[in-house]
Amino acid sequence: MPYPSAPRRRTGAYVAIAAIVASIGGAFAWTAGWLTPDRLTPARMTDAIEATSTTPYPGFRRAHAKGLCVTGHFESHPDGAALSRARVFADARTPLLGRMSIGGGSPYGLDAQARVRSMALVLRAGDGSEWRMAMNSFPFFGAASAEAFFEQTRASAPDPATGKPDPARMAAYAAAHPAAQRFAAWAKSAPWSDSFANTAYNGVHAYRFIGPAGERMVRWSMRPQAPFVEMSAAQRDAAEGDYLQDELRARLADGPVRWDMVVTVAGPGDDPADPSTPWPDDRAQVTVGTVVLTGAQDQATGACRDPNFDPTIVPGGVALSDDPILAARAAVYAQSFDRREREIARGADVGGTPPQETTR
Ligand code: HEM
Repeated sequence: MPYPSAPRRRTGAYVAIAAIVASIGGAFAWTAGWLTPDRLTPARMTDAIEATSTTPYPGFRRAHAKGLCVTGHFESHPDGAALSRARVFADARTPLLGRMSIGGGSPYGLDAQARVRSMALVLRAGDGSEWRMAMNSFPFFGAASAEAFFEQTRASAPDPATGKPDPARMAAYAAAHPAAQRFAAWAKSAPWSDSFANTAYNGVHAYRFIGPAGERMVRWSMRPQAPFVEMSAAQRDAAEGDYLQDELRARLADGPVRWDMVVTVAGPGDDPADPSTPWPDDRAQVTVGTVVLTGAQDQATGACRDPNFDPTIVPGGVALSDDPILAARAAVYAQSFDRREREIARGADVGGTPPQETTR
């Protein structure tokens, strides 16, 4: 008989459906890391970041929790359109929403003590495309892989016995990771600026610019037009908790604050997949536009409170590199976004008023 009888056919179909359901369930379980508990997943990375903080801050970003919303526009430079067909380079001006923040998981962190300062932007172009960026003041990332960053994050979590990170564990991590040593050398030697406005912000990852002359691998930075002014350790210790935010608001009250967007074009041998290694200084650099900030708003009520400044959202004319850390960021930011938005929906207070003990 070429075909099974009807009941046997139905049984076969049920088995096939059950197998599909089981395989989908298995795929979800694998993605969630349930089957391979040591595998790195977005949830495990986010858990590790949360564990570096002794206090949970529901409703806030799991990293760069303290920030200020900013608004302004992007002005294109003709050299941008020569490198990329992104609409922001064709139009003279593109409106932008941004967020200036400090590194760390506390929404009450002390501005002047933050080694890492940040700029996040979303440029909304006339063709409906969006370009999201999240950049830091460090010139290269301190880990060469997402797994290394996970290990580093775990090594810096407070030891339950002391409430502080275990220096031996951190030293052992650093000894085995050259990228961490390069980063520590930068953190120790780079002068501290006295303003968000005179700090440079670096995209760190490579991206592809696609334009009339073909494709190029680039990294970008926002270079401040405001002159650099160093802030001494004594000045940092004496500064008010919201020093950087207050200073930026005061500048903006006097007029716009600007950064040039400069892209560095990769040369032979520059690895586009490793954000922990700087490219040589002699690479071609092209100014493609200017970021102009004109206003600031509290994060609690401003339009930057919720958005996920996912650095993998790019417009046509810009494409992602194969950098696995870039892909990891997209997954972890989505996890952090999901957790904070659920907490807000459940009534978390994100007013940002510091608890008594952290005010000066
Ligand atoms: C595997 C590496 C990284 C992980 C796991 C990570 C994790 C996170 C998380 C969880 C957030 C909060 C996201 C949200 O709730 O919206 C965040 C924010 C941020 N990160 Fe990362 N990060 C990584 C690498 C980087 C790098 C390389 C840079 C800069 C070049 C960077 C810059 C930023 C900035 C600027 C923000 C704040 C964005 C905003 O204002 O919303 N991160 N990061």
